[in-house]
Amino acid sequence: MPSDSDTRALRMLGRSGIRVLPLGIGTNKWRGADRAAVTQTYRTVMAAGPCMIDTAEIYRSERVVGECLRADPGAAITATKFAPLPGRTSPRRMMSGLDASLARLGVSSVDLYYVHFPLPWLDVRVFGDGLIEAVRSGKARAVGVANFGADQMRRIADHLARSGIPLAANQVNYSLLKRKPESNGVLDACRELDVALVAYFPLASGRLTRQSDRDRTRALLALLTEIAGAHDATVSQVALNWLLARDPHVIPIPGATKPHHAKANLASLEWRLSEDEFDAIDRASADRRPARAG
Ligand SMILES: NC(=O)c1ccc[n+]([C@@H]2O[C@H](COP(=O)([O-])OP(=O)(O)OC[C@H]3O[C@@H](n4cnc5c(N)ncnc54)[C@H](OP(=O)(O)O)[C@@H]3O)[C@@H](O)[C@H]2O)c1
Repeated sequence: MPSDSDTRALRMLGRSGIRVLPLGIGTNKWRGADRAAVTQTYRTVMAAGPCMIDTAEIYRSERVVGECLRADPGAAITATKFAPLPGRTSPRRMMSGLDASLARLGVSSVDLYYVHFPLPWLDVRVFGDGLIEAVRSGKARAVGVANFGADQMRRIADHLARSGIPLAANQVNYSLLKRKPESNGVLDACRELDVALVAYFPLASGRLTRQSDRDRTRALLALLTEIAGAHDATVSQVALNWLLARDPHVIPIPGATKPHHAKANLASLEWRLSEDEFDAIDRASADRRPARAG
């Protein structure tokens, strides 16, 4: 558990020079959600500081985010993603994807532009070339990848570095119920290359927000509930706090469509777990992993 005296201290998007609140917000459910609640959710997070607001062309929430930005850009740090669907993998297609995202968001540039997922048959340098063009055009301040493995990350970081551009982030599925980034080398690569690990599904799509009777999560959730009680906090705040304490490169982006959820999540930044609590959660979360065969 790293020492971090100020839990609200801004975190770096790698070496891009961009600093953000330690917690961002995910918007993949904003399109179908109650518009007034979403607007209020946006205002709530913006009041807290430079909050990273995460969207993607395939979430179809860019227009909703754009409406919020137009009403009040505040200190929003905008992040969106290019989906390399079949037939649209070239740098040229990436740039036209970026132009369309900018139009929906109503901005002339985004803070962070990601490639949403790798393609097993495609050399990551093709994406690298598109990301380089995104930065050189001034349409993206920084660039990242999502769902990339450690080797893919290293290769694209190396390619970007040849043009003097740092890889700012790798966005992966990471929570107390999904700790693969710790075992597949992604967290280590983020530390070594100084790249932000943006954690999506940090609340395991809501499973880490409440007590459960599911056998494999019951003991962990009981512990989170007990620790939450000791801090006058909630289970989700404990789950987010554990990720924040895990490593300063980690920036969780819990999704929320309701202002009271966003407010509660940001309140995780007001306190922190003791070392003993961190360790107990670590063990309980590890224990729920299935035993390895053989
Ligand atoms: N890169 C990728 O491939 C990828 C894939 C999936 C998602 N993402 C990103 O990651 C973000 C997060 O994922 P997610 O939203 O699906 O899952 P999540 O953050 O793990 O969980 C969100 C769920 O938890 C609820 N919630 C949030 N805060 C809460 C609180 N304080 N108390 C109780 N419930 C709370 C939300 O409810 P309400 O909606 O009712 O507020 C929502 O149902 C997405 O929005 C998206 O931006 C990226």
